[in-house]
Amino acid sequence: MSDRLWGVLPHASTAIAQDWDKLFYFLLFICVFFCLVVFVPMVFFAIKYRARPGHKSTYISHNSSLEIVWTIIPTVLVIIIFIWGWLVYDKIMYNPPADATEIRVVAQSWNWTFQYEDGKTTNNQLFVPAGEPVKLRITSIQEDVLHSFFVPNFRIKKDAVPGMYTTTWFEVEEPGRHVIFCAEYCGAGHSDMTATLIALDEQNWQRWQWGREVDLPPFVGFGASQAQADQSSRKGSAKEASAESEQSLVERGEELVQQGGCVACHGSEGNGQIGPPYRGIYGEKVTLANGETVVRDENYLREAIMNPQATSVKGYEDVFMPPYPGQLSEFDLNALIAYMRSLE
Ligand code: CUA
Repeated sequence: MSDRLWGVLPHASTAIAQDWDKLFYFLLFICVFFCLVVFVPMVFFAIKYRARPGHKSTYISHNSSLEIVWTIIPTVLVIIIFIWGWLVYDKIMYNPPADATEIRVVAQSWNWTFQYEDGKTTNNQLFVPAGEPVKLRITSIQEDVLHSFFVPNFRIKKDAVPGMYTTTWFEVEEPGRHVIFCAEYCGAGHSDMTATLIALDEQNWQRWQWGREVDLPPFVGFGASQAQADQSSRKGSAKEASAESEQSLVERGEELVQQGGCVACHGSEGNGQIGPPYRGIYGEKVTLANGETVVRDENYLREAIMNPQATSVKGYEDVFMPPYPGQLSEFDLNALIAYMRSLE
């Protein structure tokens, strides 16, 4: 695990953070280098060819070979920067490994709640396994404002937007605690909207999942000394126990479907009846009543529950489904979507 390159940026705790840093330093080097290439000769020539009595300058209209060189070199550099930048961005933003542990992040003014597959939720503490990919699906509660999930040590920053899901992912190499910030000004409590990401080794991660007490690893990198100081001023040891959860997300989702009477229209197994099926539809394309074809991903399912008329499926135009805003919490929505995804 390489430490901070040249000590300028915070600790790079993921492989992607290291890739990101290399790109950043390449850009910095190019900028400084060409600054010198332009400004040093400029100052030199300004002095050398300054106006003096008895000296008359020769008229130069252009220099084709020089102009070709200073067009080609920057063009090649810009293409390199684009391709390199795209590769890093693509890796960070779009390609979480399929086996990534999925955790739901719900932001609100001014704290972070994390919801796990097994139904546990934690406030302002995100527990993750070290050495394994973790995918975050982020939103902000309805009627709230934009927030932004930022982990400086990982170089990831993703907006939390009310009414939609955004995703990001990371794989932290070593156990350790990292500071999470809100990176979008969201009102009076913005600067207090911090949380701790706790990457646990395999043994402690297992313990945590079973609801046992775990040993907390030390803080790493950006903000670590401050976070450590805040922590030790509070009572308690560097141990943390997780609350047991009785219901997994999928079980909670199933309960909601039964309680909400969804089965009356969508069939007892979600196979469809009066309303369209929701079994086995996740990730599939569908044609809507307005002729549009969309993929039924999590954002679609969310919209279909919260604003059914806008996402009415072709063939079901005349079926009225009541909208559910205000009746379902973000956590229940996450459970419902997890349940629908689980139906093959
Ligand atoms: Cu939330 Cu700034």
